[in-house]
Amino acid sequence: MILVTNNEGTLGVPTAARMLAAGAAALDAIEAGIRPIEADPSVRTVGRGGWPNILGEVELDACLMDGSTLRTGAVGALKGYLHPVSVAREIMRRLPHELLVGDGAARFAAEIGAETADNLIADSKRAWQAWYDAELTPAQKAAWPAVDLAPLCRHAIDPEIGRDTTVFLAQDATGAVCSGTSTSGWGWKYPGRLGDSPIIGAGSYADTRYGAAACTGAGEMTIRCGTARAIVLYMKKGASVADAVFEAADDMRALRGGLISRVTIHAIDTRGNHKVVAVNGDGSNVYWLWDGAGEPRRCPADVVRIAEEVGRVSSVARYTAAG
Ligand code: GLY
Repeated sequence: MILVTNNEGTLGVPTAARMLAAGAAALDAIEAGIRPIEADPSVRTVGRGGWPNILGEVELDACLMDGSTLRTGAVGALKGYLHPVSVAREIMRRLPHELLVGDGAARFAAEIGAETADNLIADSKRAWQAWYDAELTPAQKAAWPAVDLAPLCRHAIDPEIGRDTTVFLAQDATGAVCSGTSTSGWGWKYPGRLGDSPIIGAGSYADTRYGAAACTGAGEMTIRCGTARAIVLYMKKGASVADAVFEAADDMRALRGGLISRVTIHAIDTRGNHKVVAVNGDGSNVYWLWDGAGEPRRCPADVVRIAEEVGRVSSVARYTAAG
């Protein structure tokens, strides 16, 4: 058995580890690990308390993958619900689909009686309002929200400045390997922007035959590289989990244009091995490891640099405590 989660998983790792130790299924342990993080408003990049989009609305992304069936459930740009990961779970259970976004995801959440929430907490509202007051011209304010939002996207927060998505990877006592993610994505993102967290193969992937991977940071990079799926394929082709992660990090050197920023890659294999690498990291990334016995422990991630210049967008950071 093994459980890996990132620093944002701190609140959920004891529950998930305890459940796995007691024989719970990996998917159940992962969902139970993510839920308290989604509900805690002090985690500013997941669930309630997450930073809003450029219109001041919190849009949440999440997914789960069952590596034994390759079934997934994912939601993108979901507004008004407390536990996107559980809505994702119900998509897997109840629908012949894998991913719902926006109004359709909210409609489904209402249909299943998912718990509603006002995810825009007072501090996020204050920060967004301060940004709006300071950065928009009088003409933009007069026309708001009927203005071009694209030029304003330069204000997006680097998700690793504001902290990050949460990701969980687990193998349970039966050998089943699963993955899960949950995030509010980039602060001040363009409405409808999906990061990699709900995109299977980019932000996460699990296959009980080989292992699993999940990413945090700039989802734009892992979407372009198909990072999580690539890692599992590299393992299928015989690479160790460490070599697979380094190979996927190396793939990012081919990226030209767009956003080149930071990504942290987490991966496990089926034999109790794992690797966590912070691409373009500054050495501060940590993660949680529970290796099937004792208590979960915090470990430092390795660092790989693939770019001299790392994109740091963020006039918005000055309106947030994270800045
Ligand atoms: N990795 C999370 C995101 O890009 O939204």
